Amino acid sequence: MRLAVLASGYGSNLQAILDAISRKEVAGQVRVVISDVENAFALQRARENGIEALYINPRDYKDREAFDEVVSGQLMERKIDLVILAGYMRFLSPPFVRKFRGRIMNIHPSLLPAFPGLNGVKKALSHGVKVSGCTVHFVDEGLDTGPIILQEAVPVLDGDTEDTLHERIHGLEHRLYPQAIQLFIEKKLRLEGRRCIRFEG
Ligand code: GAR
Repeated sequence: MRLAVLASGYGSNLQAILDAISRKEVAGQVRVVISDVENAFALQRARENGIEALYINPRDYKDREAFDEVVSGQLMERKIDLVILAGYMRFLSPPFVRKFRGRIMNIHPSLLPAFPGLNGVKKALSHGVKVSGCTVHFVDEGLDTGPIILQEAVPVLDGDTEDTLHERIHGLEHRLYPQAIQLFIEKKLRLEGRRCIRFEG
């Protein structure tokens, strides 16, 4: 299975996926890492792991659709089976979503549908929730609205800051994302309307 990771930042989820692949817990290969941020550490991680790293500058394109078309062209050229968003801070245009429907996953640092969009951890903390977590979901045309694949909770502690809570959530993410990817690879996920059902194939 040919995987692509799209990332805008630090890339700890990318690293967790690469580690899971090297432990043979994920039966796929990351063929390319694409970023919209030139100095994203995720690109460096890719290079260090011998994976093609592509920076595509959004400013070179007239709008979101034009940028996404270039990204999707790169993915199609490499015959990518699954597109993995890992800290990719761009909203995908509808044509991109249509092209890869059912084959785009995202991870989000809250219990969706609560606190979608940017700064999910900060929003949860300032709302005062006692439990938060992370969500792996398929991507549809909405903002973090696609069918939920896996979700897990963590407690929010009285002394938490955005950093301490995000660190606890990152711990979950690094375990959950590889699991969700492997379920997809093993074709153990089936959609029934909005519900993503996990079954033994
Ligand atoms: C992760 O916590 C991910 O859930 C979040 O960005 C972080 C990226 O960390 N994504 C979003 O907020 C998407 N809306 P990483 O670069 O270390 O993998």
